[in-house]
Amino acid sequence: MIITIDGPAAAGKGTLAKRLAEKYHLAYFDTGMVYRAVGLKLLIAGISPDDAEAAEKAARELSFIEMHKLSERPEFRSAAGGQAASKVAALPKVREILLKMQQDFAVSPKSPTGESMSGAVYDGRDTGTVVCPHADIKFFITASPEVRAMRRHKEYLQKGLVSDFEDVLAQTKERDQRDSSRAAAPLKPAEDAVIIDTSGMDIATVFAEACRIIDAKLFA
Ligand code: DC
Repeated sequence: MIITIDGPAAAGKGTLAKRLAEKYHLAYFDTGMVYRAVGLKLLIAGISPDDAEAAEKAARELSFIEMHKLSERPEFRSAAGGQAASKVAALPKVREILLKMQQDFAVSPKSPTGESMSGAVYDGRDTGTVVCPHADIKFFITASPEVRAMRRHKEYLQKGLVSDFEDVLAQTKERDQRDSSRAAAPLKPAEDAVIIDTSGMDIATVFAEACRIIDAKLFA
């Protein structure tokens, strides 16, 4: 079974995806990691994330192992890391190069410990539209920019990072704009996606709703 969960930053996709993967014994792929890894490789090398040629080279050379190593660095989930990821993700050639790596995961999904799993939960922006258009169940999770910025702001503070809510809100809106207006795979719900607005919902309610939809499909 392949489940895709797309939506804007900080809508609650990651938490939902991890919980669903655990409940239904599926592998989990946070596809934002591939773009964060390429963006961070450039930042570390002192190269602008707008440098298309360098971004393509970094994408071509990226492996799963390198991606996981990079993800252990504190900058990986930082605001600067998110901005760099969003910039390289807007480059069509970079997306094309990273597509195969993401699609291959569905062929033989594995847990973090290397155990083979019967399916996967994908989390990203285009996993239901481009990466896994034939997924069994597709969700599009969204929330207002203010609610999402507040979630990210609290996350940064919890990690001990310096954060200003107004800055996070401005960055959230800037990333939304870039992610949804880019020519290559713009952020939009798949036609057959179930849309859930999590603005006024806690994670338990979102999880229960997603499970209800999955179970209805599994036991139909
Ligand atoms: O989900 P995230 O914040 O880790 O994603 C980082 C960036 O990567 C985000 O700005 C958009 C991009 N992204 C994408 O274009 N397609 C995906 N499937 C996942 C992420």
